Amino acid sequence: MQNAVVMTLLSALAGTLLSAHSVSAAARGARAAVFGHVGKATVEIYTLSNAHGIEARIMTYGASIVSLKTPDRDGHLQNIVLGFDTLDPYLAGVPYYGATVGRYANRIAQARFTLDGATFNLVANDGPNSLHGGSRGFDKRVWKADATASRNSLKLSYVSTAGEEGYPGQLTVHVTYRLLEDDSLSIEYEATTTAPTPVNLTNHAYFNLSGDPTRSILEHKLTINADKFTPVDATLIPTGELRAVAGTPFDFRSEAVIGSRIDADDAQLNVGHGYDHNWVLNAAHGNALRFAALLADPVSGRALEVRTTQPGLQFYSGNFMNGKQAGQGSVYGYRTGLCLETQHFPDSPNQPTFPSTVLRPGETYAQKTVLNFRTLKTPPN
Ligand code: GLA
Repeated sequence: MQNAVVMTLLSALAGTLLSAHSVSAAARGARAAVFGHVGKATVEIYTLSNAHGIEARIMTYGASIVSLKTPDRDGHLQNIVLGFDTLDPYLAGVPYYGATVGRYANRIAQARFTLDGATFNLVANDGPNSLHGGSRGFDKRVWKADATASRNSLKLSYVSTAGEEGYPGQLTVHVTYRLLEDDSLSIEYEATTTAPTPVNLTNHAYFNLSGDPTRSILEHKLTINADKFTPVDATLIPTGELRAVAGTPFDFRSEAVIGSRIDADDAQLNVGHGYDHNWVLNAAHGNALRFAALLADPVSGRALEVRTTQPGLQFYSGNFMNGKQAGQGSVYGYRTGLCLETQHFPDSPNQPTFPSTVLRPGETYAQKTVLNFRTLKTPPN
């Protein structure tokens, strides 16, 4: 009898050891654990940390940031991105929480494009358009963690087959997260292809710097380093115009409270149901990291600076968030998170005047975005 109990305990222990062992790089410093399963594939979660207690948890499903703890002005660590403790809500279909989005982040008009004379049809999953890679984009794939994972870095890879979601060429993608001692999280993207294809990769974290996901983000203050934005039509496809932000609610060149103009009677805010637009970052081209945005929460004293090599920034103010259950909505309430998606402009494959997003065999796609976590010293009046 006793032996049977011991045997059961031993086999349970062996099971635990086995599943811990099956996590690649578990012994190498990045804390790794099993987060769940998608069919036969194991989803792992990795914890990166720095000496100041900043902690990022990243899972292999969607190469997604699950949580990100940073200090407020009193040193109190709290999670500043919306996410979930279990895999289930992600599988039930919450919209892109913390995920790496691709093969083409944002919208492609009429779910098709022409490249080198051939027309490619994609999956229309947003009215007539293709959004964020189609019905099963990179956010819904299990990525592979590299064995070099360490306490502060994690490289994830995914091979997207030729024809997947309608895109040409087999695309090999790598995303590397590094949590650095200067209190920044750097996200590097790399991709190569076997045939010409558009590529546009971003991260879709929903930030709420207050650490309290029941609070709306309307009191956060935002600066965006952009003189122009790309106005959209009724289906959120850019019209092709680069419009000056001066004199509009899209002017964030000096710090502005997000909620101060979001309900203004403005045709562009009306079609976006708030902010859901791409800003043309000033001098963001080339390989240099340029300042893109500064988000600040006066109450907690947390600030987030975004720098990037990308030419555009989609600022989405959580207008479709509705507090409904996973699978039926976004779980979190209306405008309780906002996204700052560094990327190429929406619909670039159909817009010849926008910077090109085409990657060809022999070339390497390389982009980098750095999130810097700071604190504001002065409490609000
Ligand atoms: C992006 C889009 C939004 C919305 C969200 C997900 O940011 O621009 O319109 O689809 O993703 O809900």
